[in-house]
Order: sequence, then structure tokens, then C-alpha cells
Amino acid sequence: MTMKMMDSYNRKITYMRISITDRCNFRCQYCMPNGIKWVEHEKIMSYEEILTICKIAVEKGIVNFKVTGGEPLVRAGCLGFLRKLKQMEGVQTVTITTNGYYLAEVAEELAEIGIDGVNVSLDVLDAERFDQITGIKGGKDRVLEGIRKCMALGLKTKINAVLLKETEDQIIPLASLAKDNKIDIKFIEIMPVGYGRKTPGVSAKEALERLRTEWPDLKVATKVRGNGPAIYYESRDLIGKIGLIHAVSNPFCEDCNRVRLTSQGVLKPCLCYEAGVNLGAILRSGEGVDALREAFDRAITEKPEAHCFSHLEKMTEHKGMSEIGG
Ligand code: 5AD
Ligand code: SF4
Repeated sequence: MTMKMMDSYNRKITYMRISITDRCNFRCQYCMPNGIKWVEHEKIMSYEEILTICKIAVEKGIVNFKVTGGEPLVRAGCLGFLRKLKQMEGVQTVTITTNGYYLAEVAEELAEIGIDGVNVSLDVLDAERFDQITGIKGGKDRVLEGIRKCMALGLKTKINAVLLKETEDQIIPLASLAKDNKIDIKFIEIMPVGYGRKTPGVSAKEALERLRTEWPDLKVATKVRGNGPAIYYESRDLIGKIGLIHAVSNPFCEDCNRVRLTSQGVLKPCLCYEAGVNLGAILRSGEGVDALREAFDRAITEKPEAHCFSHLEKMTEHKGMSEIGG
């Protein structure tokens, strides 16, 4: 039986982000420039364990899932997991977020599985600067090839670009990808999580001003385009839409619909706070499904009213984005 899970602020929770690994083949400057100490393999949830938690999530009315990392495609068996999740009874949408490096190789299978959307992180179009920001060599062409392949296969494809001060000049070139392609470009304010705290960014408002110098007719599109908090804009000269996420400057917490499952099985109600319920530990202790259900409810009841990115002293989450599932 599926029910609708409301939190203490009357928000309906329908969406879960699942980090299947903290590992990544990139070293983005604002995320893990020097790598991180990887979580030991034994502590990472097995796919079976994640699927058990997902089943409970579905019972609670969480029917939309985003599979993320680190980089989800570096974990062996990711596609098999996506297939099982997509086939699970009651699941409505399964999407992934990827850095795109291995995307071209798996795009066909993603389409065949019936994945409902692919979000590709791409902050910069210039090859040299791409290498510098991601800390690896020669990735840009691979990522663009992956994006092209997804679009050709009819997969719903979006680009996520973090609004970094150093790539401010890339806003218009990136948005221009929506000129001839049915692709949405989402610009995200850098959040003070991990190294993001020390990375200078650009506000969504500034980005919109810049975008309007090129497309003065940009106006808010009416149709909701995803599970996330982006405000989408459209122009008559763009096929795709431009999304802006005011993650920091204009919190959208009153409409929050999500929880996060870390790769170690902690269900986190909010990005900002360390608090979470360790479903993995309950699962492994053999306490049974009812204990899991109860713990799940607890995480949702404890979901705080809002994040605290503008009051950093209140922030209790000190782990990086790759560990908590960006
Ligand atoms: N603030 C905003 N976005 C971030 N990402 C990683 N770290 C941060 C941060 N501190 C982005 C990645 C990817 C998405 C999953 O999260 O670039 O697009
Ligand atoms: Fe990897 Fe994403 Fe972090 Fe870059 S931002 S290092 S792609 S997890």
C-alpha cells in the first residue's frame, strides 16, 4: 500500500536522491580536488540493500528517484541496479546524474532500460579549462559525445552547470547549446558544502542578467520540468529551456520534496545538517522491515524547515558533496 508521506511542515515527500558511491574519476576543484579518503567497500550499501530501502520509500509515496554519486557510472553493476529500480512496482521515474565521462558507452542501455532523464554535469566548454576544472585530461569531447548520444536516443537530457566565478564567461556558450538542441541547461549556485565553501561563485540573478543580454525575451516558463527546484526560462530563440537554481540566494525549502540516501545508507532529510537516520545499520542488524519503516518515518518527521546556507555557523554537515550525494 502506498501512502503520502507529509513532513512536519506539510510538505509531500516524493523524491529520493540515492548516492550509490562516493567515488569519482573526476577531481573537480569545488568538490574533491585532491581526491578524498574513500569510504571502505564494506560500509557501502550493496545494491540489494539499496533496493530494500527503495521498496520502503515507495510504500511511503516516494516514487521518483535520482541515482547519483560521486560518479554513479564508476560503480560496477550500476546499470543492472538502474534496471531493477526502474522495474520496481510503484516506481514512477528513475533519473541519473553523471559527469558524462562514461556516458556514450552506456547511453543505449540507459535508453533501453527506460531511464527517465540524464543530468550531465558540465561547467565549461573550453577543453583546456575543462581539464583544469575537472582535474582529468581530455574529458570534454567524451562528455559532449555522451550528451549527443543521449539526445539522439531520445533520452531526456539536461546539463547541470555550477555557477563558478571563474567560468562566468561560459554561461552564454553553455546556454547556447539549447539553441539548436532539445536540451535544458540548469545553472546552479555553488553551495557552501565541502570545498564549495571556498569557491567563489556567481548568483543566479547575475547569471540571468547575463543571459538576458543575449536573449532579452527570456521569461519564466509555466510548465514544471522536473523534480527539482529550478525556475525555468524560455526564449523564442531557444529550443531547450534555461533553468536557474537559487540554491543559496533564494531558498526554495518551502517546496522541498526530497530526502537523500547516502552510499552508506544514511537517510538524510536535508543537505545542510549532519542529521540522518542510519537505515543501513538497521538493515544489517536484522531488526526487520518494521524497524526500517519506523526509522524512515523518523527521518521525514525530523526534516527541518529550511537549510542554513546563509547562516554557516548553523551548518552541521561537514562532509563533501560526493559523500552525501550532490
Ligand atoms: N554546490 C553546487 N553544486 C555542486 N556540485 C558539486 N558540488 C557542488 C556545490 N558545492 C554539483 C556537481 C553536479 C551536481 C550533482 O552537483 O557539479 O552537477
Ligand atoms: Fe566527481 Fe561530481 Fe565531484 Fe566533479 S563534482 S569530482 S564529477 S562527484
